[in-house]
Amino acid sequence: MAPSSQAESSHVVRWQAADWPHAVPTGAERRIAFEPMTAADVDTVQAVEASAYAHPWSRKHFLDSLQSDHPAMMLLGEALPGDVIHPERADGRVLLGYLVAMPGVDEVHLLNITVAPAHQRMGWARFMLDALALWSRAQGAQWLWLEVRQSNLPARRLYESHGFAQVGLRKGYYPNGKFQREDAVVMSLNLVASPIKEKGP
Ligand SMILES: CC(C)(COP(=O)(O)OP(=O)(O)OC[C@H]1O[C@@H](n2cnc3c(N)ncnc32)[C@H](O)[C@@H]1OP(=O)(O)O)[C@@H](O)C(=O)NCCC(=O)NCCS
Repeated sequence: MAPSSQAESSHVVRWQAADWPHAVPTGAERRIAFEPMTAADVDTVQAVEASAYAHPWSRKHFLDSLQSDHPAMMLLGEALPGDVIHPERADGRVLLGYLVAMPGVDEVHLLNITVAPAHQRMGWARFMLDALALWSRAQGAQWLWLEVRQSNLPARRLYESHGFAQVGLRKGYYPNGKFQREDAVVMSLNLVASPIKEKGP
């Protein structure tokens, strides 16, 4: 379900990695960078996915998204002493998190946003959402929207604190165990009306 104003326009959001906001070093904490996800990254991404969700995306979900040329960005950080690096990457950097989105007419639909469990509650999700909002707005999108499991209170708090508002409920949208389904809360953020920060966490 999309906000009604979306249907009145025909601007299609385009995806080019070069347009993505540059991540900035965050002081003495950790150097970070956004990089587009490629098929070669899917094994490490899926390992983080499996560690973060009870119902994770499969490798095929990620590969299908890449095949469809959906925006898919990883947030990579330099390794710091004491980091638990799992899974290991060939370049020695840490996969802090990632997101996958789907551009549409005047809107961008967030399909997946995940922060590796060892790096949660440090502001990385908020940072990735800000980057996604900046990129989406620069492409002319007016709305960000997403679905979230009703029971996923950390994610719902994240989105609410970011200015997203609930605009609907999809009954039984998600599988939940073998024979059960869970409702999805549909949320949207008006990119035209909302202020977007450009600083790190
Ligand atoms: C939801 C998720 C992406 C949040 O990532 P994160 O980097 O830890 O979030 P941030 O540190 O940027 O937190 C921003 C705000 O979100 C809310 N939040 C995040 N995690 C929370 C938690 N466990 N409990 C309550 N609120 C939480 C808080 O309001 C927080 O602000 P605060 O730290 O100032 O209180 C992360 O927990 C995750 O990857 N979970 C598994 C995957 C998932 O559910 N993805 C969303 C699918 S719709």
